[in-house]
Amino acid sequence: MTALTPQNWVIGNWKLNPYFNEAKQLFSAIAQQYQNQAELQTCHVAIAPPAPYLSFFATQQTLPIVAQDVSTIRGQGAYTGEVSADLLKETAVELVLIGHSERRELFGDDAEKLQQKIKNALQAGLTIVYCVGESLVQREAGQAQSVVIRQLQELADVTHDTEWKNIIIAYEPIWAIGTGKTASPQDAQQMHAAIRVYLQTLTTTANRIPLLYGGSVKPENAVELAACADINGALVGGASLDAASFISIIQAFAQ
Ligand code: PGA
Repeated sequence: MTALTPQNWVIGNWKLNPYFNEAKQLFSAIAQQYQNQAELQTCHVAIAPPAPYLSFFATQQTLPIVAQDVSTIRGQGAYTGEVSADLLKETAVELVLIGHSERRELFGDDAEKLQQKIKNALQAGLTIVYCVGESLVQREAGQAQSVVIRQLQELADVTHDTEWKNIIIAYEPIWAIGTGKTASPQDAQQMHAAIRVYLQTLTTTANRIPLLYGGSVKPENAVELAACADINGALVGGASLDAASFISIIQAFAQ
């Protein structure tokens, strides 16, 4: 990688799927194909399994493992049910999703909570995959860019200059997640370019930050998305639950 080139990443977000036996088979199928096909390895690949499986997969040390969430609490203590960034780091988890729209919409992750999670994760030495994206109503009202820029500002407010190297951004228009609708490559590229320009106002390392697209990425649209100048990979939900589909998305971003 040159100083000015972001690395490509394809990350499988399994959400609350699948049951453990199936998860083990899926994980080995992906890890084996990735390891056996040298041409795929120009693209980084990581998997975000459900929380109970994190340590099992992380200790295999085949693919980097991503937590789907992290606590607003640091370290350890009397916080029933919480999982801190420090514990994730200790169990060899390397990355964490923060700000996924499902967390924002269904579980009350507002800006304040997200900023606490970001600070905790960065301090623990995790890499953050920070998700941004507008709703359909916001897009139709012409607010897509301003919503995304505000979400990035919330990230920037708690990020030190030296920490940008530990940040990946995922642009996921909410209306495209799990719906089968994808942003057109032109719309996605336009937003990614705007994100890049905004990041350039925040850090001199902006050109190295991987900008992933997410929202119904599948083998059928991955090649076109991968051809866009500012799209450096994908955050894949549904299609990451099928090894063959996921591998062909990796192939698209490995070229
Ligand atoms: P999808 O999910 O690929 O199923 O649309 C993407 C995501 O939510 O990260």
